[in-house]
Amino acid sequence: MESLTLRASPSSTASPLLRLPGRRRAASVRVSASGAGEPDLSVTVNGLKMPNPFVIGSGPPGTNYTVMKRAFDEGWGGVIAKTVSLDAGKVINVTPRYARLRADPNGSTKSPIIGWQNIELISDRPLETMLNEFKQLKKEYPDRILIGSIMEEYNKAAWHELIERVEESGVDALEINFSCPHGMPERKMGAAVGQDCALLEEVSGWINEKATVPVWSKMTPNITDITQPSRIALKSGSEGIAAINTIMSVMGIDLKTLRPEPCVEGYSTPGGYSARAVHPIALAKVMQIARLIKEEFPEGRSLSAIGGVETGNDAAEFILLGADTVQVCTGVMMHGYGLVKKLCTELQDFMRMHDFTSIEDFRGASLPYFTTHTDLVQRQKEAIKQRKAIRMGLQSDKDWTGDGFVKETESMVSN
Ligand SMILES: Cc1cc2nc3c(=O)[nH]c(=O)nc-3n(C[C@H](O)[C@H](O)[C@H](O)COP(=O)(O)O)c2cc1C
Repeated sequence: MESLTLRASPSSTASPLLRLPGRRRAASVRVSASGAGEPDLSVTVNGLKMPNPFVIGSGPPGTNYTVMKRAFDEGWGGVIAKTVSLDAGKVINVTPRYARLRADPNGSTKSPIIGWQNIELISDRPLETMLNEFKQLKKEYPDRILIGSIMEEYNKAAWHELIERVEESGVDALEINFSCPHGMPERKMGAAVGQDCALLEEVSGWINEKATVPVWSKMTPNITDITQPSRIALKSGSEGIAAINTIMSVMGIDLKTLRPEPCVEGYSTPGGYSARAVHPIALAKVMQIARLIKEEFPEGRSLSAIGGVETGNDAAEFILLGADTVQVCTGVMMHGYGLVKKLCTELQDFMRMHDFTSIEDFRGASLPYFTTHTDLVQRQKEAIKQRKAIRMGLQSDKDWTGDGFVKETESMVSN
Protein backbone atom coordinates (compact mmCIF):
# COMPACT_ATOMS: atom_id res chain seq x y z
CA MET A 1 0.00 0.00 0.00
CA GLU A 2 1.47 3.35 -0.98
CA SER A 3 2.18 6.11 1.49
CA LEU A 4 -0.96 7.82 2.67
CA THR A 5 0.74 11.17 2.90
CA LEU A 6 0.62 11.33 -0.87
CA ARG A 7 -3.18 11.50 -0.92
CA ALA A 8 -3.22 15.13 -0.02
CA SER A 9 -5.71 17.96 -0.29
CA PRO A 10 -9.00 16.19 -0.88
CA SER A 11 -10.48 19.38 -2.20
CA SER A 12 -7.59 20.67 -4.24
CA THR A 13 -8.27 21.05 -7.93
CA ALA A 14 -5.23 18.96 -8.81
CA SER A 15 -6.34 15.35 -8.50
CA PRO A 16 -4.39 13.63 -5.71
CA LEU A 17 -5.10 10.42 -7.58
CA LEU A 18 -2.78 11.55 -10.33
CA ARG A 19 0.02 11.10 -7.83
CA LEU A 20 -1.10 7.72 -6.60
CA PRO A 21 0.24 4.67 -8.37
CA GLY A 22 -2.17 2.33 -6.54
CA ARG A 23 -5.47 4.13 -7.02
CA ARG A 24 -7.21 4.40 -10.35
CA ARG A 25 -7.60 7.95 -11.54
CA ALA A 26 -11.16 9.17 -11.44
CA ALA A 27 -12.86 9.63 -14.77
CA SER A 28 -12.73 13.19 -16.01
CA VAL A 29 -16.07 14.84 -15.44
CA ARG A 30 -18.18 17.72 -16.57
CA VAL A 31 -18.09 20.76 -14.32
CA SER A 32 -21.08 23.06 -14.58
CA ALA A 33 -20.13 26.37 -16.10
CA SER A 34 -21.30 28.97 -13.64
CA GLY A 35 -22.51 32.20 -15.16
CA ALA A 36 -20.66 35.45 -14.64
CA GLY A 37 -20.92 36.50 -11.01
CA GLU A 38 -22.67 33.29 -9.96
CA PRO A 39 -21.09 31.64 -6.91
CA ASP A 40 -19.34 28.47 -8.11
CA LEU A 41 -20.70 25.34 -6.45
CA SER A 42 -18.30 22.88 -8.09
CA VAL A 43 -16.08 20.73 -5.88
CA THR A 44 -13.21 18.30 -6.42
CA VAL A 45 -13.01 15.62 -3.78
CA ASN A 46 -10.39 12.85 -3.84
CA GLY A 47 -9.94 13.72 -7.50
CA LEU A 48 -13.66 13.40 -8.23
CA LYS A 49 -15.09 16.49 -9.87
CA MET A 50 -18.71 17.36 -9.18
CA PRO A 51 -20.80 20.29 -10.44
CA ASN A 52 -22.11 20.81 -6.91
CA PRO A 53 -21.50 19.22 -3.48
CA PHE A 54 -24.92 17.52 -3.33
CA VAL A 55 -24.78 13.73 -3.39
CA ILE A 56 -27.63 11.23 -3.15
CA GLY A 57 -27.08 9.31 0.12
CA SER A 58 -27.25 5.52 0.00
CA GLY A 59 -30.84 4.32 0.39
CA PRO A 60 -34.09 4.21 -1.58
CA PRO A 61 -33.09 7.17 -3.85
CA GLY A 62 -30.26 4.99 -5.26
CA THR A 63 -31.96 1.61 -5.53
CA ASN A 64 -32.01 1.10 -9.30
CA TYR A 65 -31.05 2.42 -12.73
CA THR A 66 -34.24 4.43 -13.22
CA VAL A 67 -33.98 6.44 -10.02
CA MET A 68 -30.20 7.00 -10.26
CA LYS A 69 -30.63 8.20 -13.86
CA ARG A 70 -33.29 10.59 -12.61
CA ALA A 71 -30.85 11.93 -10.00
CA PHE A 72 -28.23 12.64 -12.67
CA ASP A 73 -30.82 14.25 -14.93
CA GLU A 74 -32.00 16.54 -12.13
CA GLY A 75 -28.41 17.70 -11.51
CA TRP A 76 -27.17 15.95 -8.37
CA GLY A 77 -23.39 16.27 -7.99
CA GLY A 78 -23.07 12.53 -7.40
CA VAL A 79 -25.02 9.41 -6.53
CA ILE A 80 -24.24 6.79 -3.91
CA ALA A 81 -26.15 3.64 -4.77
CA LYS A 82 -28.07 1.57 -2.25
CA THR A 83 -25.64 -0.71 -0.35
CA VAL A 84 -24.92 -3.99 -2.14
CA SER A 85 -23.47 -7.30 -0.91
CA LEU A 86 -22.47 -10.53 -2.67
CA ASP A 87 -25.59 -12.50 -1.84
CA ALA A 88 -28.79 -10.46 -2.01
CA GLY A 89 -30.73 -13.68 -1.42
CA LYS A 90 -29.95 -13.32 2.29
CA VAL A 91 -31.58 -9.87 2.40
CA ILE A 92 -35.28 -10.15 3.22
CA ASN A 93 -37.21 -6.94 3.89
CA VAL A 94 -40.49 -6.50 5.75
CA THR A 95 -43.38 -4.06 5.32
CA PRO A 96 -44.22 -1.62 6.78
CA ARG A 97 -40.60 -0.65 7.30
CA TYR A 98 -40.91 3.13 7.75
CA ALA A 99 -42.48 5.25 10.51
CA ARG A 100 -42.60 9.05 10.70
CA LEU A 101 -42.57 11.65 13.45
CA ARG A 102 -44.50 14.89 12.89
CA ALA A 103 -43.82 18.26 14.47
CA ASP A 104 -47.32 18.44 15.95
CA PRO A 105 -47.31 16.62 19.32
CA ASN A 106 -50.67 15.04 18.41
CA GLY A 107 -49.27 13.84 15.10
CA SER A 108 -51.58 15.89 12.85
CA THR A 109 -50.94 14.75 9.28
CA LYS A 110 -50.93 18.43 8.27
CA SER A 111 -47.84 19.17 10.34
CA PRO A 112 -44.38 18.70 8.84
CA ILE A 113 -42.43 15.45 9.12
CA ILE A 114 -39.39 16.00 11.29
CA GLY A 115 -38.20 12.44 11.94
CA TRP A 116 -38.15 9.24 9.93
CA GLN A 117 -37.43 5.71 11.12
CA ASN A 118 -36.62 2.80 8.85
CA ILE A 119 -35.97 -0.88 9.40
CA GLU A 120 -34.98 -1.35 5.76
CA LEU A 121 -32.05 -3.62 4.98
CA ILE A 122 -29.42 -3.17 2.28
CA SER A 123 -30.30 -3.86 -1.39
CA ASP A 124 -32.32 -7.01 -1.93
CA ARG A 125 -31.63 -6.92 -5.68
CA PRO A 126 -29.15 -9.43 -7.19
CA LEU A 127 -25.60 -8.02 -7.26
CA GLU A 128 -25.23 -8.80 -10.96
CA THR A 129 -28.34 -6.75 -11.75
CA MET A 130 -27.06 -3.78 -9.75
CA LEU A 131 -23.61 -4.01 -11.38
CA ASN A 132 -25.10 -4.06 -14.88
CA GLU A 133 -27.07 -0.95 -13.98
CA PHE A 134 -23.91 0.79 -12.66
CA LYS A 135 -22.19 -0.05 -15.99
CA GLN A 136 -25.13 1.30 -17.96
CA LEU A 137 -25.19 4.53 -15.92
CA LYS A 138 -21.44 5.08 -16.33
CA LYS A 139 -21.84 4.47 -20.08
CA GLU A 140 -24.60 7.06 -20.35
CA TYR A 141 -23.14 9.53 -17.85
CA PRO A 142 -19.33 9.09 -18.09
CA ASP A 143 -18.76 12.53 -16.59
CA ARG A 144 -20.92 12.00 -13.52
CA ILE A 145 -19.85 10.57 -10.18
CA LEU A 146 -21.30 7.19 -9.23
CA ILE A 147 -20.23 5.68 -5.92
CA GLY A 148 -20.84 2.05 -4.98
CA SER A 149 -21.87 1.43 -1.36
CA ILE A 150 -20.77 -1.99 -0.14
CA MET A 151 -21.11 -4.24 2.89
CA GLU A 152 -20.02 -7.81 3.51
CA GLU A 153 -19.69 -10.40 6.23
CA TYR A 154 -16.53 -10.82 8.33
CA ASN A 155 -14.62 -12.59 5.57
CA LYS A 156 -11.61 -11.20 3.72
CA ALA A 157 -12.19 -13.19 0.52
CA ALA A 158 -15.81 -12.01 0.38
CA TRP A 159 -14.81 -8.35 0.80
CA HIS A 160 -12.12 -8.70 -1.88
CA GLU A 161 -14.51 -10.34 -4.33
CA LEU A 162 -17.15 -7.66 -3.73
CA ILE A 163 -14.65 -4.80 -4.18
CA GLU A 164 -13.28 -6.32 -7.39
CA ARG A 165 -16.72 -6.85 -8.91
CA VAL A 166 -18.08 -3.44 -7.94
CA GLU A 167 -14.94 -1.67 -9.20
CA GLU A 168 -15.22 -3.55 -12.51
CA SER A 169 -18.63 -1.96 -13.03
CA GLY A 170 -16.86 1.40 -13.41
CA VAL A 171 -17.86 3.18 -10.18
CA ASP A 172 -15.71 6.21 -9.30
CA ALA A 173 -15.37 5.44 -5.58
CA LEU A 174 -16.54 3.10 -2.85
CA GLU A 175 -18.44 3.95 0.30
CA ILE A 176 -18.12 1.29 2.98
CA ASN A 177 -21.24 0.77 5.03
CA PHE A 178 -19.83 0.24 8.53
CA SER A 179 -22.97 1.72 9.98
CA CYS A 180 -26.37 0.17 9.24
CA PRO A 181 -27.89 -0.15 12.75
CA HIS A 182 -30.54 -2.83 12.18
CA GLY A 183 -30.80 -6.27 10.65
CA MET A 184 -27.29 -6.56 9.30
CA PRO A 185 -25.44 -6.35 12.68
CA GLU A 186 -27.17 -9.63 13.55
CA ARG A 187 -24.90 -11.08 10.82
CA LYS A 188 -21.79 -9.21 12.09
CA MET A 189 -22.19 -6.62 9.32
CA GLY A 190 -22.69 -2.84 9.18
CA ALA A 191 -22.69 -1.16 12.59
CA ALA A 192 -21.38 -4.37 14.18
CA VAL A 193 -18.06 -3.54 12.48
CA GLY A 194 -18.29 0.25 12.93
CA GLN A 195 -18.85 -0.16 16.66
CA ASP A 196 -15.93 -2.52 17.24
CA CYS A 197 -12.60 -0.79 16.68
CA ALA A 198 -10.53 -4.00 16.55
CA LEU A 199 -12.85 -5.54 13.96
CA LEU A 200 -12.96 -2.28 12.03
CA GLU A 201 -9.17 -2.08 11.86
CA GLU A 202 -8.94 -5.58 10.44
CA VAL A 203 -11.77 -5.17 7.91
CA SER A 204 -10.61 -1.68 6.90
CA GLY A 205 -7.15 -3.13 6.27
CA TRP A 206 -8.62 -5.78 3.93
CA ILE A 207 -10.61 -3.15 2.07
CA ASN A 208 -7.80 -0.67 1.60
CA GLU A 209 -5.27 -3.25 0.45
CA LYS A 210 -7.70 -4.22 -2.32
CA ALA A 211 -9.46 -1.02 -3.42
CA THR A 212 -8.02 0.94 -6.32
CA VAL A 213 -10.59 3.76 -6.23
CA PRO A 214 -11.09 6.24 -3.34
CA VAL A 215 -12.70 4.73 -0.25
CA TRP A 216 -15.12 6.61 2.05
CA SER A 217 -15.87 4.85 5.33
CA LYS A 218 -19.42 5.55 6.48
CA MET A 219 -19.68 5.82 10.24
CA THR A 220 -22.42 5.05 12.72
CA PRO A 221 -23.41 7.70 15.28
CA ASN A 222 -24.48 4.86 17.61
CA ILE A 223 -21.17 4.93 19.48
CA THR A 224 -19.80 6.99 22.36
CA ASP A 225 -16.97 8.64 20.45
CA ILE A 226 -17.26 8.69 16.65
CA THR A 227 -13.66 9.89 16.28
CA GLN A 228 -12.31 6.52 17.43
CA PRO A 229 -13.57 4.40 14.49
CA SER A 230 -13.04 7.36 12.13
CA ARG A 231 -9.37 7.57 13.14
CA ILE A 232 -8.94 3.84 12.57
CA ALA A 233 -10.61 3.94 9.15
CA LEU A 234 -8.39 6.86 8.09
CA LYS A 235 -5.22 5.25 9.48
CA SER A 236 -6.09 2.08 7.57
CA GLY A 237 -6.01 4.04 4.34
CA SER A 238 -9.55 5.32 3.70
CA GLU A 239 -9.49 8.55 1.69
CA GLY A 240 -12.53 9.90 3.45
CA ILE A 241 -15.22 9.59 6.09
CA ALA A 242 -18.96 9.79 5.51
CA ALA A 243 -21.18 10.50 8.53
CA ILE A 244 -23.74 9.96 9.83
CA ASN A 245 -25.77 6.86 9.16
CA THR A 246 -29.09 6.62 11.01
CA ILE A 247 -29.46 6.83 14.79
CA MET A 248 -30.90 3.78 16.52
CA SER A 249 -34.48 4.54 17.45
CA VAL A 250 -37.91 3.28 18.43
CA MET A 251 -40.39 5.56 16.72
CA GLY A 252 -43.20 5.09 19.19
CA ILE A 253 -45.78 2.88 20.79
CA ASP A 254 -49.36 2.74 19.53
CA LEU A 255 -51.33 3.60 22.67
CA LYS A 256 -54.41 1.74 21.43
CA THR A 257 -52.73 -1.56 20.55
CA LEU A 258 -49.73 -1.15 22.92
CA ARG A 259 -47.54 -2.35 20.04
CA PRO A 260 -44.30 -0.59 18.95
CA GLU A 261 -43.98 1.04 15.50
CA PRO A 262 -43.33 0.28 12.71
CA CYS A 263 -45.43 -2.77 13.54
CA VAL A 264 -44.88 -5.97 11.55
CA GLU A 265 -47.28 -8.77 12.47
CA GLY A 266 -47.65 -7.24 15.94
CA TYR A 267 -43.91 -6.90 16.61
CA SER A 268 -41.13 -4.40 15.85
CA THR A 269 -37.37 -3.99 16.12
CA PRO A 270 -35.32 -0.83 16.76
CA GLY A 271 -34.52 0.95 13.51
CA GLY A 272 -32.58 3.92 12.17
CA TYR A 273 -33.68 7.54 12.66
CA SER A 274 -33.12 10.19 9.99
CA ALA A 275 -34.48 13.51 8.60
CA ARG A 276 -34.55 16.97 10.14
CA ALA A 277 -34.58 15.78 13.76
CA VAL A 278 -31.12 14.22 13.42
CA HIS A 279 -29.47 17.29 11.85
CA PRO A 280 -28.13 18.80 15.12
CA ILE A 281 -26.70 15.42 16.14
CA ALA A 282 -25.13 15.01 12.70
CA LEU A 283 -23.61 18.51 12.96
CA ALA A 284 -21.92 17.55 16.24
CA LYS A 285 -20.53 14.30 14.83
CA VAL A 286 -19.32 15.99 11.63
CA MET A 287 -17.68 18.72 13.73
CA GLN A 288 -15.79 16.08 15.75
CA ILE A 289 -14.61 14.26 12.62
CA ALA A 290 -13.62 17.53 10.92
CA ARG A 291 -11.46 18.40 13.92
CA LEU A 292 -9.90 14.94 13.88
CA ILE A 293 -8.99 15.33 10.21
CA LYS A 294 -7.60 18.83 10.75
CA GLU A 295 -5.55 17.87 13.81
CA GLU A 296 -4.34 14.37 12.95
CA PHE A 297 -4.42 14.14 9.15
CA PRO A 298 -3.04 17.52 8.07
CA GLU A 299 -2.18 16.16 4.62
CA GLY A 300 -5.96 16.10 4.07
CA ARG A 301 -8.80 13.59 3.95
CA SER A 302 -12.32 14.11 2.72
CA LEU A 303 -15.53 14.40 4.69
CA SER A 304 -19.02 13.73 3.36
CA ALA A 305 -21.67 15.05 5.74
CA ILE A 306 -25.09 13.42 6.06
CA GLY A 307 -28.13 13.96 8.23
CA GLY A 308 -31.36 15.89 7.93
CA VAL A 309 -30.51 18.08 4.96
CA GLU A 310 -33.55 19.68 3.30
CA THR A 311 -32.31 23.22 2.62
CA GLY A 312 -29.24 24.97 1.24
CA ASN A 313 -28.68 26.42 4.71
CA ASP A 314 -28.51 22.90 6.23
CA ALA A 315 -25.80 22.13 3.68
CA ALA A 316 -23.98 25.42 4.34
CA GLU A 317 -23.76 24.46 8.03
CA PHE A 318 -22.06 21.15 7.20
CA ILE A 319 -19.63 22.86 4.80
CA LEU A 320 -18.85 25.54 7.40
CA LEU A 321 -17.76 22.68 9.66
CA GLY A 322 -15.42 21.29 6.98
CA ALA A 323 -17.53 18.94 4.83
CA ASP A 324 -16.46 18.54 1.20
CA THR A 325 -19.77 17.07 0.08
CA VAL A 326 -23.27 16.86 1.54
CA GLN A 327 -25.47 13.78 1.17
CA VAL A 328 -29.26 13.69 1.20
CA CYS A 329 -31.38 10.57 1.58
CA THR A 330 -34.67 11.09 3.47
CA GLY A 331 -35.00 14.63 2.06
CA VAL A 332 -35.22 13.11 -1.43
CA MET A 333 -37.77 10.55 -0.23
CA MET A 334 -39.95 13.41 1.03
CA HIS A 335 -39.42 16.09 -1.64
CA GLY A 336 -38.24 14.23 -4.77
CA TYR A 337 -35.13 14.53 -6.95
CA GLY A 338 -35.91 18.13 -7.96
CA LEU A 339 -34.86 19.15 -4.44
CA VAL A 340 -31.31 19.57 -5.73
CA LYS A 341 -32.27 22.73 -7.63
CA LYS A 342 -33.60 24.35 -4.46
CA LEU A 343 -30.50 23.22 -2.53
CA CYS A 344 -28.19 24.79 -5.13
CA THR A 345 -30.14 28.06 -5.28
CA GLU A 346 -30.28 28.40 -1.50
CA LEU A 347 -26.60 27.58 -1.08
CA GLN A 348 -25.73 30.19 -3.71
CA ASP A 349 -27.97 32.74 -1.91
CA PHE A 350 -25.99 32.08 1.28
CA MET A 351 -22.70 32.47 -0.61
CA ARG A 352 -23.83 35.73 -2.19
CA MET A 353 -24.76 37.10 1.24
CA HIS A 354 -21.11 36.72 2.30
CA ASP A 355 -19.45 37.37 -1.08
CA PHE A 356 -18.15 33.81 -1.18
CA THR A 357 -17.33 32.86 -4.76
CA SER A 358 -16.45 29.20 -4.21
CA ILE A 359 -17.13 26.41 -1.71
CA GLU A 360 -13.49 26.59 -0.60
CA ASP A 361 -14.06 30.22 0.43
CA PHE A 362 -16.02 29.06 3.47
CA ARG A 363 -15.36 25.35 3.96
CA GLY A 364 -14.42 24.83 7.62
CA ALA A 365 -14.83 28.52 8.48
CA SER A 366 -16.91 27.83 11.62
CA LEU A 367 -14.71 25.03 12.97
CA PRO A 368 -12.30 27.29 14.91
CA TYR A 369 -15.24 28.64 16.95
CA PHE A 370 -15.67 25.41 18.91
CA THR A 371 -13.89 25.23 22.22
CA THR A 372 -14.33 23.71 25.68
CA HIS A 373 -16.94 24.80 28.19
CA THR A 374 -14.15 25.87 30.55
CA ASP A 375 -12.85 28.19 27.84
CA LEU A 376 -16.36 29.62 27.30
CA VAL A 377 -16.52 30.46 31.00
CA GLN A 378 -13.14 32.18 30.82
CA ARG A 379 -14.08 34.12 27.68
CA GLN A 380 -17.33 35.25 29.22
CA LYS A 381 -15.58 36.40 32.39
CA GLU A 382 -13.17 38.46 30.29
CA ALA A 383 -15.96 39.90 28.13
CA ILE A 384 -18.03 40.87 31.14
CA LYS A 385 -15.03 42.53 32.72
CA GLN A 386 -14.25 44.44 29.54
CA ARG A 387 -17.80 45.62 28.88
CA LYS A 388 -18.31 46.48 32.51
CA ALA A 389 -20.99 43.81 32.56
CA ILE A 390 -24.06 44.65 30.52
CA ARG A 391 -26.19 42.03 32.17
CA MET A 392 -26.80 39.12 29.76
CA GLY A 393 -28.65 36.16 31.21
CA LEU A 394 -28.39 35.11 34.80
CA GLN A 395 -25.10 35.28 36.65
CA SER A 396 -25.73 32.22 38.79
CA ASP A 397 -28.20 29.34 39.18
CA LYS A 398 -29.49 30.94 42.39
CA ASP A 399 -30.94 33.86 40.34
CA TRP A 400 -33.64 31.80 38.53
CA THR A 401 -37.20 32.76 39.53
CA GLY A 402 -40.53 30.99 39.11
CA ASP A 403 -42.42 33.89 37.53
CA GLY A 404 -39.72 35.01 35.09
CA PHE A 405 -38.53 31.49 34.24
CA VAL A 406 -39.48 31.45 30.54
CA LYS A 407 -38.04 34.94 29.95
CA GLU A 408 -34.89 34.02 31.87
CA THR A 409 -34.48 30.91 29.72
CA GLU A 410 -35.05 33.05 26.61
CA SER A 411 -32.30 35.48 27.70
CA MET A 412 -29.73 32.70 27.44
CA VAL A 413 -30.66 31.38 23.97
CA SER A 414 -28.35 32.49 21.18
CA ASN A 415 -30.80 32.57 18.25
C1 LIG B 1 -35.10 4.10 4.14
C2 LIG B 1 -33.63 4.27 4.32
C3 LIG B 1 -32.74 3.32 3.82
C4 LIG B 1 -31.36 3.49 3.98
N1 LIG B 1 -30.51 2.57 3.46
C5 LIG B 1 -29.16 2.75 3.56
C6 LIG B 1 -28.25 1.85 2.94
O1 LIG B 1 -28.63 0.89 2.25
N2 LIG B 1 -26.92 2.09 3.11
C7 LIG B 1 -26.45 3.14 3.82
O2 LIG B 1 -25.23 3.33 3.92
N3 LIG B 1 -27.30 4.03 4.40
C8 LIG B 1 -28.63 3.85 4.28
N4 LIG B 1 -29.48 4.78 4.85
C9 LIG B 1 -28.94 5.89 5.64
C10 LIG B 1 -28.83 7.18 4.81
O3 LIG B 1 -27.93 7.06 3.73
C11 LIG B 1 -28.36 8.36 5.71
O4 LIG B 1 -27.08 8.06 6.23
C12 LIG B 1 -29.31 8.66 6.87
O5 LIG B 1 -30.63 8.40 6.53
C13 LIG B 1 -29.20 10.11 7.35
O6 LIG B 1 -29.39 11.04 6.30
P1 LIG B 1 -30.81 11.69 5.90
O7 LIG B 1 -31.35 12.39 7.13
O8 LIG B 1 -30.49 12.62 4.77
O9 LIG B 1 -31.68 10.55 5.48
C14 LIG B 1 -30.87 4.62 4.67
C15 LIG B 1 -31.77 5.58 5.16
C16 LIG B 1 -33.13 5.43 4.98
C17 LIG B 1 -34.07 6.49 5.50
